[in-house]
Amino acid sequence: MLLRSRIEAEISAGGGWLPFARYMQLALHEPGLGYYASAAQKFGAAGDFVTAPELGSLFGRTLARQLREIGGPVLELGAGSGALAEALLREGGFDYRILETSAELRARQERRLGARVEWLERLPERIRGVVIANEVVDAMPVHAVAWRADGILERGVGVSQGRLEWRERPATGELLREARKIEVPVPYESEIGLAARAWMRTLCERLEQGVLLVIDYGFPRHEYYHPQRAAGTLMCHHRHRAHADPFLRPGEEDITAHVDFSALAGAARAAGAEALGYATQAQFLVNCGITEVLGEANLANALHYAPIAAEAQKLLSPAEMGELFKVLAVGRGVNRPLAGFSRGERSHTL
Ligand SMILES: C[S@@+](CC[C@H](N)C(=O)[O-])C[C@H]1O[C@@H](n2cnc3c(N)ncnc32)[C@H](O)[C@@H]1O
Repeated sequence: MLLRSRIEAEISAGGGWLPFARYMQLALHEPGLGYYASAAQKFGAAGDFVTAPELGSLFGRTLARQLREIGGPVLELGAGSGALAEALLREGGFDYRILETSAELRARQERRLGARVEWLERLPERIRGVVIANEVVDAMPVHAVAWRADGILERGVGVSQGRLEWRERPATGELLREARKIEVPVPYESEIGLAARAWMRTLCERLEQGVLLVIDYGFPRHEYYHPQRAAGTLMCHHRHRAHADPFLRPGEEDITAHVDFSALAGAARAAGAEALGYATQAQFLVNCGITEVLGEANLANALHYAPIAAEAQKLLSPAEMGELFKVLAVGRGVNRPLAGFSRGERSHTL
């Protein structure tokens, strides 16, 4: 209830209105109160959702091939339960650092990974090597926007008779400028990730030499703001059920938005970095050699092989994570092509 009081206090201080991005920041990340700050399970079968590293070690073992090719230390942003770090460290040869915004998850990661990892308090001023962000950008606060016949509105949160509800105001500033660049049929509602762009700009400004890999569910701009996606991409995850009402259980469930990969690539370019590759997760993992990694499994032992085959199916199938999840690589000072994008590269769609 503490989080709820905090949200209502901010709504009241804002004259009955709180920008949705601020609401999402409080509900997910407010220290001590937000969803990612709480001790609830979150990841895996007993939690709310399953991410690729949570399925098993196949994702990490395959990704390791791309990381070795790039070389340099690894910085993982938002490491969740520490599953990806664990799989990569088991492969060996990585100098590993983690930057995690949730104190509770960091403590969990420290228990799991111990002295093999260095945890950073903040983003370094200069970055070299590889930066990985798997399912981190979808948890960043987004601004909610409505394009209506009478103009472009910012959607926010108000309270009526004790219930949180949507309220709208004319959009202003950077949000209005960005919303005007997007052509959609009215009426139309969607999200704009201003925080994700700022995050990308900062990372790319600090990247001296190396690659940033963003892995997440999302689309290039023309698909993201498709006429048929007129209700946006906000989604909440609670015990493996998904729904679209972000006001139902603030602080107790995950709230996400799909990632606009064109916006991220644009922010990287604006900061002087290059888009090095963009592919579906399935194509990326195949290019990295997931079939060879699978081949290392003990084919003769069904008890060993069946779970790995099921994991591969989840990672690669277009009906599961294979097509909806994308991998974007941006970098600086990298002068050879990356293996993960050797075939089926889709940068032209960004
Ligand atoms: C959906 S979880 C994904 C966890 C993990 N990468 C995985 O794939 O299982 C999002 C993670 O990102 C962290 N996070 C969110 N915003 C962040 C930011 N700006 N910088 C670093 N970590 C962040 C959260 O605390 C959480 O650990």
